[in-house]
Amino acid sequence: MRHVWFSSLLNKVSGTLPTTRNRAFVRRSESSRHLFQQAVSVCLLALTCSTSVVMGDETVVSRIAVGACAKQDQPQPIWDAVIATQPQRFLFIGDNIYGDTEDMAVLKQKYDLLAKQPGYAKLKQVCPVLATWDDHDYGANDAGADYPKKRESQQIFLDFYEVPKDDVRRTHEGVYSSHVMGPVGKRLQVILLDSRYFRSPLKTGFKPGEPGDGYRGKYAPNTDAGVTMLGETQWKWLAEQLKVPAEIRVIASSVQVVADEHGSEMWGNFPAERQRLFKLIRETGATGVVLFSGDRHLSEISRLTADHLDGIGYPLFDVTTSSLNAPSGNKTKAGVRFANEINSYRVGLTYFDTNFGTLEVDWTLPDPVLRLQVRDEQGGVVLQQRLKLSQLRATR
Ligand SMILES: [Fe+2]
Repeated sequence: MRHVWFSSLLNKVSGTLPTTRNRAFVRRSESSRHLFQQAVSVCLLALTCSTSVVMGDETVVSRIAVGACAKQDQPQPIWDAVIATQPQRFLFIGDNIYGDTEDMAVLKQKYDLLAKQPGYAKLKQVCPVLATWDDHDYGANDAGADYPKKRESQQIFLDFYEVPKDDVRRTHEGVYSSHVMGPVGKRLQVILLDSRYFRSPLKTGFKPGEPGDGYRGKYAPNTDAGVTMLGETQWKWLAEQLKVPAEIRVIASSVQVVADEHGSEMWGNFPAERQRLFKLIRETGATGVVLFSGDRHLSEISRLTADHLDGIGYPLFDVTTSSLNAPSGNKTKAGVRFANEINSYRVGLTYFDTNFGTLEVDWTLPDPVLRLQVRDEQGGVVLQQRLKLSQLRATR
């Protein structure tokens, strides 16, 4: 649209240039026109770059990118591919650095290394970054509410992501946040959960299956009374957010929500909390919900079917995308990067190399089409789930 306007402007301007049979004058006119075109192009480029960062809430958002698990002290070449998808927002959904410390000076130094990654610096010029954390950037492997430096770590997090001084996250505990963008009829809500600050202790003791049953981690479901993933304050906040008008709602959780059999960290470590989330989505009548998760150093798309015992009334997809630069260390005896990991909700294949996620929305169609994607380090789509928006609402 902008280019049509630009051409029309140029035609109008060139029409005002004097015409003559004098070839030298024509050459000068052509040269002036060329210089004028170049000047306008530079201005237009500057305008495009600046508006991409300060985009108003009314701008239709049709492309977001998602990533997790980035080792700050290793190269991060994947950002070029992320930027090439022209995301309007980037969701950084946990283990954004590997902090793993109770020394806040060390934590800050590690964030500084991320800031110095040329690709990440470039991304920040292209689109706003919306973030939450997972265990390693929170401060300790598999940590929950008992991590002693959580208050200090939160302030460093908020500073690093340049969260405004008057933002509510500066005054409440935890880094959860919600963002609605786009005009009525094309609103996209991004909800970033905090699955660390309030989380109850994990329980170990998961028993691995027979060889060939699939890889399993060490955590057993914690069914003790009163255990929590989000804490009551965040739960109440989430219930309110799910009632905010929006056509599409992306809920980002650092750890997987739907997959619940593998015994590593996941919502399934607290089965009652996982059920509570599904029940909340169902009972608030929130439509258009899709989930993104990270953490796992693998990517896969999981689906909770509409008619599942815990189903929300329509299919709930959880796109797991991880890692940006530290692929799965699981390998077969033959040395192939692979894990036969149990997940009966999985749709299609698992991808084990470095990757990032994208959500593309075609709002131009009467029934908008969503593409939930996982992309490789070159930006190629390796996993995709395509949906019509009408499929993301209860039919009963
Ligand atoms: Fe993690």
